[in-house]
Amino acid sequence: MIDQYNRDISYLRISVTDLCNLRCRYCISDNFEKKSHAEILRLEEIENICKVAAENGITKIRLTGGEPLLRKGIINLVEKIKNIDKIKEIAITTNAVLLESMAKDLKSAGADRLNISLDSMEEKTFSMITRGAKLIDVQRGIESAISAGFEGIKINTVLLKGINDNEIPEFVGLSKYGFEVRFIELMPIGNTASYAKKHFMSAQEVLNLCPSLIEEESYDYSSPAKYYKIPGHKYKVGLIRPISCNFCEACNRIRLTADGKLKPCLHSNQEIDVKGVSNDMKAIDKKMKSAIISKPKKHNLENMEYIIRGMSKIGG
Ligand code: GTP
Ligand code: 5AD
Ligand code: SF4
Repeated sequence: MIDQYNRDISYLRISVTDLCNLRCRYCISDNFEKKSHAEILRLEEIENICKVAAENGITKIRLTGGEPLLRKGIINLVEKIKNIDKIKEIAITTNAVLLESMAKDLKSAGADRLNISLDSMEEKTFSMITRGAKLIDVQRGIESAISAGFEGIKINTVLLKGINDNEIPEFVGLSKYGFEVRFIELMPIGNTASYAKKHFMSAQEVLNLCPSLIEEESYDYSSPAKYYKIPGHKYKVGLIRPISCNFCEACNRIRLTADGKLKPCLHSNQEIDVKGVSNDMKAIDKKMKSAIISKPKKHNLENMEYIIRGMSKIGG
């Protein structure tokens, strides 16, 4: 469906749970409030919303969280969404800690692509950022995904000044081995905003540190990343710069939170409740159309810390 600024909205990002097995310092604060079971969308409700979304022009669905692999029944949900006519792609964004035992089933259920969040390849730093997770679990998860047949896995690395900037060349080097690495500028959202401000680093620093990166001419306008390549490397390196260079003009996405709110924009407090009507296809349809129509022209980054939901409650 085309919105009022002539953008074709074809991508729905669904946070299937706001819970996460990690507690990355820039994402989840100490006073995280857990939603009750009753507040969270049931899988059948998510399926209904996906069916309506498909009728409104959504062709790509991404499951996120929190950590989507924590959600009970996730494999079944992937299968159900895969069976919806008009949905051409199901992708998942995960921290990969639980991926080792699930990759094969996700693939068989119909998941097309995986984006993996990984902010450090040094054990100590990884454990510090995530407050205690083990890097080996992520490594095993990635290996298992490759064995299961996932190709073109994207690695999302949030740039953290003074924490992982020394690893940038090593991350860029992963583009040699079949991974598309994307560096993300840290956004000061919710009550971790002060941490984000302290450790913010512009994506320009990646280009300064890796002068052999060459800007790609072909450009996917709906992707938040701008792409670069190192001559001879198989895969691209992406820079996602919501702070220094936003991509609202080409944005093709809306979001659904775990508690059933449609969010037309990541950086806006505007939310349209569908939990209350999630068994009534006509009513969902009305809300879906209104979410798309009311999508703002651009985000309001200047006021980002007043965004009520943290990133783990929106789905990245
Ligand atoms: P592809 O489908 O592989 O292009 O993935 P994606 O970039 O759409 O999804 P992913 O979950 O990997 O998102 C990467 C990061 O980009 C997110 O965690 C956010 O930091 C950022 N991002 C994604 N969507 C938006 C958006 O609509 N606005 C802004 N400002 N940032 C976004
Ligand atoms: N700024 C930028 N990216 C963030 N993510 C989580 N919080 C933030 C933030 N404040 C990223 C995660 C993951 C993706 C889903 O969102 O690291 O890669
Ligand atoms: Fe979990 Fe991702 Fe947030 Fe880390 S950044 S706490 S892995 S949702």
